[in-house]
Amino acid sequence: MAIRRAGDPDVAAQARQARPVARGDSATAHRLRSAGATLYNARAMITVDLPDVAGTAELAARIAALAKPADIIALKGELGTGKTTFARAFIRALGNSDEEVPSPTFTLVQVYELDRVSVWHFDLYRLLSCEEAWELGIEEAFSEGISLIEWPERLGLLLPDRRLEVNLAFGDRPETRRITLVPGGEWCTRLAPNAADA
Ligand SMILES: Nc1ncnc2c1ncn2[C@@H]1O[C@H](COP(=O)(O)OP(=O)(O)OP(=O)(O)O)[C@@H](O)[C@H]1O
Ligand SMILES: [Mg+2]
Repeated sequence: MAIRRAGDPDVAAQARQARPVARGDSATAHRLRSAGATLYNARAMITVDLPDVAGTAELAARIAALAKPADIIALKGELGTGKTTFARAFIRALGNSDEEVPSPTFTLVQVYELDRVSVWHFDLYRLLSCEEAWELGIEEAFSEGISLIEWPERLGLLLPDRRLEVNLAFGDRPETRRITLVPGGEWCTRLAPNAADA
């Protein structure tokens, strides 16, 4: 499995070009803060090139081994990039290897009561408004469970910054994928040793 850390030159350029903050210029201060935050994440970003489904499942299992209650894992990527495949492998790694894990396309959420923790698998593609997410139980999921969220963009500002973002993209061949991990919160330190020995 090829893993490399990715600095993002665009973000670095953006931060360099940011003008000094005039007292009271809160819009500029906000832009500068978010450029700084992105720059920090860019340094911690990890890119993984996966040869096949087994590679995606192996990465999901490695992340599952690091996960704790109240974690939020945002699975981003176009249709068919493998978000459900990743979630399935993650859930099976924490529970039974033959656990049935259907895509929650229509139910929007599927909850798995596993030995150590409950895993909430969301697919928010059909969410009509971010307020609707409260009815799905995000409050309980975010405070007690591990949340795996497909189409996390639908949550807007309800999506916590402390999430681990897993960006899935197609590779050169039908069975290859490029996954970029963007760690928020504790994930920065949790992932660091794994990047070194990958
Ligand atoms: N390396 C790979 N990683 C993940 N999936 C792969 C890979 N190679 C091929 N696939 C296939 O791509 C498909 C991914 O489908 P999946 O339902 O997981 O995508 P998705 O991102 O959840 O789609 P949607 O946006 O519709 O929910 C599966 O059929 C899977 O077998
Ligand atoms: Mg899916």
